[in-house]
Amino acid sequence: METLEKGKFVGKGIIKVITYGTFDLFHEGHYRLLQRAKALGDYLIVGVTTETYDRARGKLNVVDSLATRIENVKKTGFADEIITEETQGQKFNDIKKFHVDIFTVGSDWTGTFDYLKDYCQVIYLERTRNISSTMLREQKQQIQRIGIIGTGRIAGRFLVEAKLVSGCSVQAAYNPHPGSAAKFAQKWGIDAYLDIEDFFSVVDVVYIASPHETHYNYIKAALEHGKHVLCEKPMVMQGIQAEKLFKYAKERGLILFEGIKTAYCPGFSRLLGIACSGTIGSVRNVEACFTKLEAPDTRELTDQKYGGSFTELGSYCMLPVLKLFGKDYEKLEFETIRGENGLDLFTKISLRYFGGIATATCGLGVKSEGRLLIAGTKGYIVAEAPWWKTAYFEVHYEEPGKVEKYSESFLGDGLRYEISDFLSMINGSSDNGFKLTRGESIALAEIMEKFLETEDRIL
Ligand code: CTP
Repeated sequence: METLEKGKFVGKGIIKVITYGTFDLFHEGHYRLLQRAKALGDYLIVGVTTETYDRARGKLNVVDSLATRIENVKKTGFADEIITEETQGQKFNDIKKFHVDIFTVGSDWTGTFDYLKDYCQVIYLERTRNISSTMLREQKQQIQRIGIIGTGRIAGRFLVEAKLVSGCSVQAAYNPHPGSAAKFAQKWGIDAYLDIEDFFSVVDVVYIASPHETHYNYIKAALEHGKHVLCEKPMVMQGIQAEKLFKYAKERGLILFEGIKTAYCPGFSRLLGIACSGTIGSVRNVEACFTKLEAPDTRELTDQKYGGSFTELGSYCMLPVLKLFGKDYEKLEFETIRGENGLDLFTKISLRYFGGIATATCGLGVKSEGRLLIAGTKGYIVAEAPWWKTAYFEVHYEEPGKVEKYSESFLGDGLRYEISDFLSMINGSSDNGFKLTRGESIALAEIMEKFLETEDRIL
């Protein structure tokens, strides 16, 4: 027998109980659950979910950090051991590993864990009424009323995804064209406005999904009206405009956030984490390619001033390059293949850095293999298309058989991740998101500008 700190004995004959939870904004329901779980046996193990696991299973609204949640569970004094729950399927392994006799959770999960009955006893404890982390989050958080500028395809997708993120509600849409506004309002059951002043008066934050060239003026107007802004990529196409807007937002204590969904998805964050960890040594080459064939009459291939493959897809391809090599490139070159109307159908951008090189390839009229390849001095990381919705990637080394495989979930259209990060920034966690910094957004705008200059498109 082994003596534990609390004077309890572990060994033959003791009853081990295990329970799991997020335990966010620790409340009475959690306390009572742990108290009763402990009373079921002699030794209680509590599994607290990690941030990565919560994000992977689509729980994007957790407020407390893992450390705080663990600390709160510890303070109750009921847990003999605290572990973290990091992956799906872990419960089954924990039960075997810790020789668990009883698995228990609240009655909101009744039936869900019956599959564990072959390995231990499963007990659903009655949930404490009228209290939950969700309720507390809603009381704590002001619900942000979102207004959408622009009523195209992406605006519809945004609406669907925003419904899955707590702390916000899409309230209104604005489009100066009466037909489009009315159609959108009818389809999605929200109010559409033709007058921008009326629109600003009913919303707290603005999502901009209008044509690229209108972004600057809409962002400026929204900031002038005291609204936080989430703007679709490319946010703007001139470095100076991006700088001005960020400065303007900062002076007013507002958040300005560029929506490149790849930057916020859990799989891409994990990939970057591994690339920066030294696992593949020093990064020497980044190759990112994203192509999709578009019909010749779409806006992307007809807008003479702002259309083409690079303005459309360049933000995605440049993202891993800027994240891994930074903004201080030594050389930048574009090669393009143009369509009959002069717009670029296929663009390759080559960058030289001190110690590394990169290429970003975008196509709307040429199809290629979409891939993200990051080569280092010890190995390489490869993510196949759609790597911009990173769900799977591999790490390879010199030995051909040595391959590490990573997968992460990418739910729905992935916009939920950026909306959730945007709301966290508004709610005060930071005003310069590390997943896409202001400096990186400015660098992207500068690169767009250089591209349009080489194309002789006057801004
Ligand atoms: N629990 C409970 N009574 C409550 C709330 C939670 O017994 N009023 C239990 C849950 O059933 C679970 C454990 O506490 O076994 C941890 O639950 P967790 O999901 O962290 O808490 P919730 O308040 O349910 O969180 P959310 O609102 O985010 O779902």
